[in-house]
Amino acid sequence: MTPELLGFQITHRAMRGDVRRLATLATQLAEGLQSADQTRARAIADFITTLNRGIHHHHTMEDKVLWPVLERSAGAEVDLRDLSDDHADLDPLLAEIDGQAAAFASTGDASALAKSLTRLADMLDEHITEEERLLFPIIRKYVSVADWHRVETEVRKGGNVRIDLPRMEQYAEPDEMARLRKLAGPPLTVMLSLFRRGHRRRQRLIFGPLAVS
Ligand SMILES: [Fe+2]
Repeated sequence: MTPELLGFQITHRAMRGDVRRLATLATQLAEGLQSADQTRARAIADFITTLNRGIHHHHTMEDKVLWPVLERSAGAEVDLRDLSDDHADLDPLLAEIDGQAAAFASTGDASALAKSLTRLADMLDEHITEEERLLFPIIRKYVSVADWHRVETEVRKGGNVRIDLPRMEQYAEPDEMARLRKLAGPPLTVMLSLFRRGHRRRQRLIFGPLAVS
């Protein structure tokens, strides 16, 4: 048995997808191609802050929980320095974006936010592509299923299920969702039915009526 990386993979996909969509939205707002009243602006800012917290948490858990597991399991096979440097570079940008999101909610000016979110989207694309290319084969080869389970449990602990689960459903392909349902069992179906509607309402408010199917 090898570790099941699907949950991590979809979390990565959702992070990249949402930051890119927000970067595009902020650019269109800055250029006057879209508009946002107070309610929409606040929803956009809240989503950005929540997403940033999730990205920070994910990388913190990689540093604190996954990296030691990799070092213990794979030793000299893995060099995590570049990926750790990326995490350190991302943190100040996330903090900057939080400030810019709050400023956007009060002034309506999205120009600084658009630039920073585009930078974050580019950085995450590069970082996550590299991380999956380097680490996924090593995790599959060297990490035990029990250790991987512990990593996933720790990552999930500090997450926000109300936001994270419906986002996974949004970004998973139907066959991937079927696999996730099989892995997680009935609690996943129950939680999704609780959180799906609110998530879709917020997505439509933020990204427009066609945001989610
Ligand atoms: Fe990472």
